[in-house]
Amino acid sequence: MIETMTRVAAARYSELAARSGKEVRIGDKRIALFKLTNGDVRVIENQSPHPKGGVLSEGLVSGEYVFCPVYDWKISLIDGKVQAPDTGQVKTYEVLIEDNQVYILL
Ligand code: FES
Repeated sequence: MIETMTRVAAARYSELAARSGKEVRIGDKRIALFKLTNGDVRVIENQSPHPKGGVLSEGLVSGEYVFCPVYDWKISLIDGKVQAPDTGQVKTYEVLIEDNQVYILL
């Protein structure tokens, strides 16, 4: 089966600050964009998998990880995995950057 992805314009690349998150709502999805210090943009679901469901775009970014602002779970911005000793995973999204425009592929 061939899946077609839709690209949704989410932000201007130049307006994203390094090491901080930005929330984008697309339909009922809450999505977080992060610009890493190396300039890469990573996109994940904007809710911690912890029962308290912290907003990850408000978390602290260090390298390729974001720390949930509620209970400090460390979550990979590459594959969405919660780092040990905690467990869980958030959804990740593919991103495309063209002419200063950041698109999320859904
Ligand atoms: S809500 Fe994110 S670690 Fe608890």
